[in-house]
Amino acid sequence: MRAIGFTQNLPIADEKSFIEFFEPKPTPTGHDILVKVIATSVNPVDTGVRRGTVQTLSTPKVIGWDAYGVVDTVGEAVTLFHPGDRVFYAGSFKRPGTDSEYHLVDERLVGHAPTRLTAAEIAAVPLTSLTAWEALFEQMHLSFDAPAANAGKILLVINGAGGVGSMATQLAHLAGLTVIATASRPETIAWTKDHGADAVVNHRQDLVPQVQALGYPTVDYILELSNLNQHWAEIVSLIAPSGTVVSVTGSDTPIDLRALKQKRATFAWEWMYTKSFFETPDMITQHDILERVRGLLDTGKLKSTLTKTFTPINPANLRAAHALVETNRMIGKVVLTNEK
Ligand SMILES: NC(=O)c1ccc[n+]([C@@H]2O[C@H](COP(=O)([O-])OP(=O)(O)OC[C@H]3O[C@@H](n4cnc5c(N)ncnc54)[C@H](OP(=O)(O)O)[C@@H]3O)[C@@H](O)[C@H]2O)c1
Repeated sequence: MRAIGFTQNLPIADEKSFIEFFEPKPTPTGHDILVKVIATSVNPVDTGVRRGTVQTLSTPKVIGWDAYGVVDTVGEAVTLFHPGDRVFYAGSFKRPGTDSEYHLVDERLVGHAPTRLTAAEIAAVPLTSLTAWEALFEQMHLSFDAPAANAGKILLVINGAGGVGSMATQLAHLAGLTVIATASRPETIAWTKDHGADAVVNHRQDLVPQVQALGYPTVDYILELSNLNQHWAEIVSLIAPSGTVVSVTGSDTPIDLRALKQKRATFAWEWMYTKSFFETPDMITQHDILERVRGLLDTGKLKSTLTKTFTPINPANLRAAHALVETNRMIGKVVLTNEK
């Protein structure tokens, strides 16, 4: 089968930063399904892994953590899927990625694909919707199904227009929360409002006076999706007593959790890969989340956040998509697809 990978961290403009190569088509065993990949997206984790590669690798590394495709064959323990099923998923950090013709994934991480969206629209969704869902409805312990109970709760989403923020804003809005999102450009401000933000503040300026000027001295929940160190002082100021902060980003330098003690605020990480990385007993909840997301997409309650499509999946287009994500100015998602 064809696959696209890299052996060294070259500037993305370099034609050799991604190379196409051939390797044997895998055979699924156990809970694995083999998927023929139709579309895949690029997330900041892709650029991070590529740019974080220090040594030259002896064999190409295949990355990519979003797929829409069709089930080719299944392992002997598989119960959720059959050959021919259309599926979407993000997959596991420990395994080769989705930038290949066929891809092995554990069925418990996979959902049946929406039927009313294009291939590219579908591939834009899995990783960001899983991250947003787990952050809001697992780590913040909010309930998606209790809009009345959530009414009046205030959520600040730091980075509202990026891939995760565009999903989190929509899901929180559907769940009945009041959402303040951050964005800094006219187009990201407009996008964020269009995806359910009740108010928008500018993350290039101090967030504290801007949120307070909206009439909120503090907020009940903060979802940090850009740079925890950079926004930490604002988070400490803005979180309400007994509030909850969830971050999905790394922390370049240690953060001082003591700053949250007086408010007895909760801090939690979200890592979309935790369940698959540790093969936790609840890893099938990613299947459940994607099934719910599929329903929301097919009924039009949730919108795909696709903004840029490259056709087909090849090294040149993968380089172009990585270059876009590297700008740190993405609005929504960029996808590569073999099917219009
Ligand atoms: N832990 C996990 O499971 C997980 C999962 C997914 C993503 N992540 C991480 O979450 C982060 C966001 O991912 P993403 O895909 O949503 O990102 P993205 O789509 O690349 O985000 C792009 C957006 O970032 C905004 N931005 C730039 N500088 C900012 C700043 N200083 N403060 C706030 N926003 C800023 C830009 O808005 P303007 O143009 O308006 O400035 C732009 O719209 C990345 O670090 C990624 O690695 C983690």
